[in-house]
Formats: sequence, C-alpha cells, structure tokens
Amino acid sequence: MSDKAEIRVGDKVIELPVITGTENEQGIDIRQLRDQTGLITYDSGYKNTGATSSSITFLDGEVGILRYRGYPIEQLAEQSTFLEVAYLLIYGELPTQQEFSTWNEAITRHTLIHEDMKEFFEAFPRKAHPMGVLASNLISLSTFYPESLDPDREEEKINLTIKRLIAKISTIAAWSHKNSVGHPVVYPKNKYNYTENFLNMMFSVPTEDYEPDPIVVKALDQLLILHADHEQNCSTSTVRMVGSSRSNLYASVAAGVAALWGPLHGGANQEVIQMLEQIQADGGNMQKWIDKAKDKNDPFRIMGFGHRVYKNFDPRATIIKKSCDDVLGKLGVSDPILDLAKKLEYVALNDDYFKERNLYPNVDFYSGIIYKAIGIPTEMFTVMFAMGRLPGWIAQWKEMIANKEPIGRPRQIYTGPTERPYKPMSNR
Ligand code: SDX
Repeated sequence: MSDKAEIRVGDKVIELPVITGTENEQGIDIRQLRDQTGLITYDSGYKNTGATSSSITFLDGEVGILRYRGYPIEQLAEQSTFLEVAYLLIYGELPTQQEFSTWNEAITRHTLIHEDMKEFFEAFPRKAHPMGVLASNLISLSTFYPESLDPDREEEKINLTIKRLIAKISTIAAWSHKNSVGHPVVYPKNKYNYTENFLNMMFSVPTEDYEPDPIVVKALDQLLILHADHEQNCSTSTVRMVGSSRSNLYASVAAGVAALWGPLHGGANQEVIQMLEQIQADGGNMQKWIDKAKDKNDPFRIMGFGHRVYKNFDPRATIIKKSCDDVLGKLGVSDPILDLAKKLEYVALNDDYFKERNLYPNVDFYSGIIYKAIGIPTEMFTVMFAMGRLPGWIAQWKEMIANKEPIGRPRQIYTGPTERPYKPMSNR
C-alpha cells in the first residue's frame, strides 16, 4: 500500500499522507485537507473515521481479534486477573510481583467512600436506575478531592485519582444495589481481593455473612477482564472528548457511564435478558422474533447481536458463551433463558439477513446470563459493564492527556435556513 493518497477536487489534485499502524492498519491523514481544498470530510457516526492513534487495544473485526497492549484476550481471560489487566491497560506493561502488590494494596486501601456520600444513596428513590446513581456518585468524588482535578498536574496526583476511582467504583456500585433493595450498605473488607470484596458488599446482609464462592469470583473477574477496554467505542470516545477539554478524570468517566447506559451500547446487556424473557413469555417462537428484527417497519432488534467493528464472532462472546455452560454447570443452575439464547443464536446465524450483514453475538449477548446466575439483578448489568470498562476509560484518557491531544471539536455540514431578517411577533 502506498504512503500517499491523491484526492481530486475539481481540476485540483492534492496528495495526503497515508499513516500505517503497527498492525498495518492504514488511514489517510486529512489534517491538511481543509487548508488545501477548503473541504471537510463527512462521516456521520464516525464509521470510517479514526479520531486518534492509540497503543492500548487492537481489534481486528474481520477475524475477531482483541488484544490489550498486545496480549490476546483469550490468554488474559484465562490466566490473568482483573486488577492485573487494569494495571496493564493503564501503565502499558504487566506488573512485576512487587508492582502488583503495591497496586493491589493501594486499591484495597481506597475502597471506602467519604461517609458524607452515604446520604447521596439514601436521597435517591428506591427505583433509581443504578447507572444514574453511579454516574452521579463518580462525578461527586471530584467534590471530595478538589486537589486532584487538574489533569496536567504531577503524575502522583493522577495516579492517586486512578486508584481512588478503581477502588471506589465497586463500593459505589454495590451501595447503589443495596439502596435499591432497601438493605443497609455493607462496608468493604480488606481481607478480600477486589472481586470478592464487591460480591461481599453486594450480597452480605446483617443476618448472614456472604462467603464468596471461588467459581463465582473467577467468573465475575473474567467478565470484568473481558469488558476492560475496546478501543474507540462510544463511551471511550466520550471519555476522550470530555477529557480533551482538560476536564478532570472523575467528570470524564462519569460522562463515559452516561454514554455506556444507552441500549445500543452497554445498556444492551440488560436489554438482552429482557428480550429473551419477552420471547420466553411469548411462547419461544424464535422465527417470529427473527422476522420482527428483519422487518424495517418494526423497531425490534435482536439485542446483543451485531457490532460496528466485528464482522465475525466477537471473541468475548465466544469466551462468555463457554463460561455460561461452565459456571451454570458448576453452580448447579439451569436457566431456560440460556437455552433460549443458544436457540436464538442458531436460528439467526442460519438466516440470510444476519449472514449478509455479518451480524454475530456481541459481548452483551451472553454476559447477562452469568450475571443472573451469580444473583446480580438485571438493572445492575450495565453497572457491571462500567466497572469492567473503567480501567480502559482511564488508560485512554491518560494516553490522550500524555499525547497533548487538542480539544475535540468536529465540523459539520450546515443544512438549515439561509440568512433571513427577523420578524417582530406582531407580524408572524
Ligand atoms: C457494545 O463499539 C464497541 O466496541 C462497543 C462494545 C464495547 O465493548 O465497547 O463492543 C459494546 O456496545 C456492543 C453492542 C451492543 N448493542 C447491541 O447489541 C444493540 C443491537 N445491535 C445494534 O443496534 C447494532 O448492531 C450496533 C449498534 C451494535 C452497531 O450498529 P451499526 O454499526 O451502526 O450498524 P447498523 O445499525 O447500521 O446496522 C447495519 C445493518 C442494518 O440493516 P440495513 O439498514 O443494512 O438493512 O444491520 C442491521 C441494521 O438494521 N442490524 C440489525 C442488528 N444490528 C444491526 N438487525 C437486527 N438486529 C440487530 N441487532
């Protein structure tokens, strides 16, 4: 492939550089396009636009490859832990034993949130969606740590904010659940590791301590790893955009939570279970729902299917599907929804509509089945996605600040009214 691209505009031909990444992905560098031609590009939804260069995560959607800092997701999911993967994403290398111990110790010591924040949870209505509670509390952390807001401030302050966020998101998530079920909150305990601590805060009640089941801990830790980063997806691009104005990390990740909440993005994992339960209640007639999904006049879509980048299997979905059988089998849980999901996947993958559009199960299609088996309520599923994605958001924000990237400010093609004089109300 050439390192130059020619663009003809009228009778003028200009040359633009073609940049190549370490995995031979190539893109036309259009930063001089407007100066040389007066034109901008147009790409609604940025389907063909690279917003940045990044060394964090590599996806190959054609063949279903996902690597964090060069390590294949399959190996990390099998052999690593969520906190180790978080370190890898944020600092670029797998930690030594000493580095991990320091990292783990610091996060363990920051899991408590300021006692004044407890009142925030009590102020929310019981039926408050935990994503709204999570976003509010994450940005509220900025009010308790005003000294750590400047993103260009010395490294140590940023690292302290990073540890606080990773540590405290699990407490905030668990407390939002406790608020929704009217239970007293459970404080973090330093004897537990990160994932055990979260489960304990979620499921311990005053009358009975919750003993974390190793099968459940491993399954949840793996789910957090699988969600940890995914290059320039909607919520990560939002975190980068907010951070590009040099807004602080608390505000940037709170914006990421807001973007992730959408049903087309992280909110899909909750929608998948609700869709499967709807199909089950309707008698389980798969073809009827597949036909609805294909009908352009019907807004129904198969949630958990399709992806902007993967035009083959989402490698995370493959791992989670296998884990479903494994975890439910070990827990002795049989969930008809899993059988329904597998049947729906089979029917869809044998339907030309889905095959022609390269629509496969994505990360959200099976994840809810494991969350459900663990006892996590459906409304908490996207919060689990956010907990997993937090290290990725942090790593991407940190990279954008370190690279001194400019404030994000896309252009537009204006299609509104041309100039017209103001008319006083008396003669409209
Ligand atoms: C995540 O970007 C990431 O990396 C995201 C994520 C991450 O880790 O951060 O991977 C997490 O968000 C996964 C996606 C979760 N969302 C869903 O499962 C919602 C259902 N899927 C979609 O709505 C859709 O597939 C998207 C949003 C995921 C992708 O949408 P695109 O890339 O904009 O594609 P599109 O909507 O233009 O669809 C292309 C065609 C259309 O048909 P035609 O107009 O060509 O006839 O495929 C059809 C769509 O109608 N289509 C579907 C479908 N998804 C796409 N038809 C039925 N069911 C679906 N699920």
